[in-house]
Amino acid sequence: MDDPLEKLQEEIDAEMREIYTETVIDHAMNPRNVGVLPGADGWARFTGPCGDTMEIWLKVEGNRVEQANFWTDGCGTSIACGSMVTELAKGKNIHYCLEIEQEDVLNALGDLPEESRHCALLAATTLKMAVEDYLDRRSAAR
Ligand code: FES
Repeated sequence: MDDPLEKLQEEIDAEMREIYTETVIDHAMNPRNVGVLPGADGWARFTGPCGDTMEIWLKVEGNRVEQANFWTDGCGTSIACGSMVTELAKGKNIHYCLEIEQEDVLNALGDLPEESRHCALLAATTLKMAVEDYLDRRSAAR
C-alpha cells in the first residue's frame, strides 16, 4: 500500500521542481557558508523592504576574500541567495566582489520566480555593504 505521507512529499517535491531550479533547491536545502565568522574583517547587516534580514561576514587576505559567510531570517530563496552570493565572493578579489549584482546571483542560481527575485537583491546588497565595511576599516587603519 502507498504511504500517503510519502506520496504527499513526492507531490510537494514535484511542485517545487516546477517553480525552482535544481541549483536553487540545492542551495536552499544545503546552504553553504552559514553562520558567524569569528574575527571577520568585514561585516554588514541589511534588512530588505520585505522585512527579511541578512548578515554577511568576510575574511580577507591581501585583496582576496578567503571566506564569506551569511545568515538570514528570510525565506528558503533568501537562504539560497545568501549561499550563492557567498560562493560567488569566495576566492575573489575584494574589488570584484563590489561589482557582484542581483543579476549575477540570479544567473548563478538559474533564476528565481518574479516574486522571489528581490531575495537576490537582498544578498547582493548585503555583500556590497560588507565589502564597503572592509574597505572602510582598511582605510581607517592606514
Ligand atoms: Fe524577503 Fe525572500 S522574501 S528575502
